[in-house]
Amino acid sequence: MPTILAFAGSPRRGGNSEILLDCLTAGVKDKGGQVNKIILNELKISPCQECGGCDKSGCCVVDDDMQSIYKQLDSAGALVVASPIFFSGVSAQLKAVIDRCQCHWVRKFLLKQSPHENKRPGVFLSVRGQAGLDIFHCAVKPVKAFFGTEDVSYAHELLCDNIDAKGRISAHSDVLGQAYQLGWKLLSQISRG
Ligand SMILES: Cc1cc2nc3c(=O)[nH]c(=O)nc-3n(C[C@H](O)[C@H](O)[C@H](O)COP(=O)(O)O)c2cc1C
Repeated sequence: MPTILAFAGSPRRGGNSEILLDCLTAGVKDKGGQVNKIILNELKISPCQECGGCDKSGCCVVDDDMQSIYKQLDSAGALVVASPIFFSGVSAQLKAVIDRCQCHWVRKFLLKQSPHENKRPGVFLSVRGQAGLDIFHCAVKPVKAFFGTEDVSYAHELLCDNIDAKGRISAHSDVLGQAYQLGWKLLSQISRG
């Protein structure tokens, strides 16, 4: 069974988006699936330097923790990305990972190479402090572009507004249940191939 790669994009440990992510991964694990959860804030990932080092090879020349993420992105059976909304977009930690996948964009769209025959399913989980679902599109757009570059379909999303204080999402058992069930769905999608 392929591993589900799960990015926790918030710098706040035990925060709202990580709680959602943990509910989803609990759903996966309870059904026998494997998860590789990565706390992006704990990694050393430089922003893309736009150096052109990947232009001919599709490989990034910057030697930092992203080199391990590239391998995990290529081998994952599914991808789950969790991020808070920061100034209307995704967290800087997640955006750095997305931008560093420019080398995979080169690989796919310029060099016409892809390690995947079929798309893997992907999920975006996000939480914002203020009320209103309108702002989420500024985060959904780069995540969709990222998924497209990584041969991942934007299969599911769970976008939660009006949740600000750390851990406050735990009071919303309906939302936690939805995240848990997404874990099941994702696993069954992978199992079906
Ligand atoms: C730097 C920063 C920027 C934020 N920007 C927004 C914003 O633009 N819109 C919003 O609704 N909430 C904003 N928030 C609130 C967070 O989205 C909210 O607290 C969320 O629940 C945090 O999720 P987390 O616990 O997973 O980090 C911001 C919080 C911080 C720290």
